[in-house]
Order: sequence, then structure tokens, then C-alpha cells
Amino acid sequence: MNIVFIGAGNMAEAIVAGIVKNKVVAAANVCVTDVSEERLTHFLMKYDVSTSDDNAYAVAKADVVVLAVKPQVFPSVWPEIEGALKPDALVVSIMAGIPSAKIANGQPLRVVRVMPNTPSLVGMGAAGIAAGERATESDLQVAQKLLGAVGSAVIVAEEEIDAVTALSGSGPAYVFYLLESMLEAAGKMGLEQGISRELALATVMGAAKLMQETGEDAAVLRKKVTSKGGTTEAAINTLEERHVKDSVVAALLAAQARSKELANG
Ligand SMILES: NC(=O)c1ccc[n+]([C@@H]2O[C@H](COP(=O)([O-])OP(=O)(O)OC[C@H]3O[C@@H](n4cnc5c(N)ncnc54)[C@H](OP(=O)(O)O)[C@@H]3O)[C@@H](O)[C@H]2O)c1
Repeated sequence: MNIVFIGAGNMAEAIVAGIVKNKVVAAANVCVTDVSEERLTHFLMKYDVSTSDDNAYAVAKADVVVLAVKPQVFPSVWPEIEGALKPDALVVSIMAGIPSAKIANGQPLRVVRVMPNTPSLVGMGAAGIAAGERATESDLQVAQKLLGAVGSAVIVAEEEIDAVTALSGSGPAYVFYLLESMLEAAGKMGLEQGISRELALATVMGAAKLMQETGEDAAVLRKKVTSKGGTTEAAINTLEERHVKDSVVAALLAAQARSKELANG
């Protein structure tokens, strides 16, 4: 399988690093393109993949083309690629807010749409993968293998991509927001910064791992650490009084609505 990444940015780098390291695709079969010579040299030196500054030339022999440019660049990049694709090429788009039908543009093109997130950069990503109208089961599996090299990759319907965007695409920001708040409180309580950071990070990662490994619901695990009249209860009561759960639900629904708006142009 020859695979070409259009755009050698952060996301492309995360996926290339993962697939090469995990031998999902051999480096010799990976090509990246970019407008920046510096980025291309970086990929060549670090991952030993081939590089090109010519998108049309690069896609001509590709079995899989991963669109990894910013969505605003898509309208200028796509015309030069569209006509140069192999007739049986699979197009995998990681661009936010661009529906598969817009990419296919009325052509009989197999498109898979992916919504990754930034923890892919450390191999702990969460991606939703959706088939466009003509994509097959095996196309979905190709995308799942690629994204699976940098974390979890689940298959969803394309109409669910806006919800995935709100949950896991934007999700790391909610966790950072929680961490910001926890660390602000730690500062107010006089804890040294390095110590607070280490404890807060271990707490977030430990809680996620505990939930993953026990398979328990979040509410059950929360209740297990909330003893009557204890410290956790004092904290949770404060969160409840201030409607924090309602705010988080509203926040995700706002992100979903915004994602739909962007997709509709
Ligand atoms: N980061 C996230 O959390 C996240 C999450 C989900 C989805 N995504 C999606 O992933 C995609 C990539 O995001 P990113 O953060 O990796 O962006 P990025 O770092 O800006 O990477 C895009 C790369 O494409 C290059 N480029 C610009 N014009 C080009 C052209 N005509 N041909 C080839 N390459 C070109 C850019 O170069 P210049 O910088 O020199 O213009 C840049 O190196 C976006 O569509 C985004 O919506 C990102």
C-alpha cells in the first residue's frame, strides 16, 4: 500500500510516526507533501519517508491519500489533486468540518472521514472514523489501522462526526480546563507547582485507567470515592450547587452545533 499525506503538519506527523513505528506501513511506502521545505526535510530525516512539494505528482501512484491540510487550504489544494488520483484511490480526510460529499464533489470517489485529536501526538489519541457514500468496509478498516497506530479508533456514522468532534476532538481542551482549575486551586492552597502538576496529572491519568480497567460507569466510581460527610462529598456538592454538570453538557452541545455550522459552510 502506497500512502501519501497531503500536508506535513502536526497531525500528519503523529500518524506517520505511529504507522512507521508500528510497521503498519513501511517507511518506503509513505510519502508526505508540504509547501515547507523545512517540514519535508524533517520528515525525511526523522522517519525516512519520501517527500515531495508536488501534490499532483505525489498522489499519482498512491493507493491511499490522507488529506491533512487545514480545512481553509482545502479549496485551493483539492483541484490540483482531484484529477491526478488513481481511479481506485482511497481518500482519507482528517480535515475538520469538511463533509465527505464535498470532497467527492459528485465523483465516484471513496472517501473516509476521520476526526482525530491531539493526544495522537503521544500515541494516545481518540479518533472517530466514518465512511462516505462510496467507502467500503475494507476502506474503514484501512483508516482504522492507520489511526489505531496512534490510539483508539472507532467507527461511527458520518452524521455522528459532529458529536465525535464535540466529545473527543475538542475533548482534550475540557480536560486541560479541569487541570487548569485544579492547579489554580492547588496554588491557592499553597502547594508547590511541580508537586501539584505531578499529582494532578497522575490523578487524571489514574482515574481514566481505573475506569478503563474496571469497566465501571463514571458515576459508580465517583460514588465509591465519595463517603458521607467526607472531603470528596464537600467538593461534589459544590460542583452540583454550581451546576457544573449541566454546564459541561451545554458546552459539548455547543461544540456539536458549531461543528455542524462549520460543515454547512
Ligand atoms: N490539531 C487537532 O487537534 C486536530 C484535531 C482534529 C482534526 N484536525 C485536522 O487535521 C488537519 C491538520 O491539522 P494540523 O494541526 O496538523 O495542521 P498543520 O500543522 O497546520 O499542518 C498542515 C500542513 O499543511 C501544509 N500546507 C499548507 N498548504 C499546503 C499545500 N498546498 N500542499 C501541501 N501542504 C500544505 C502547512 O504548511 P504551512 O503551515 O506552511 O501553511 C502545514 O505544514 C486539519 O485539517 C485539522 O482540521 C486537527
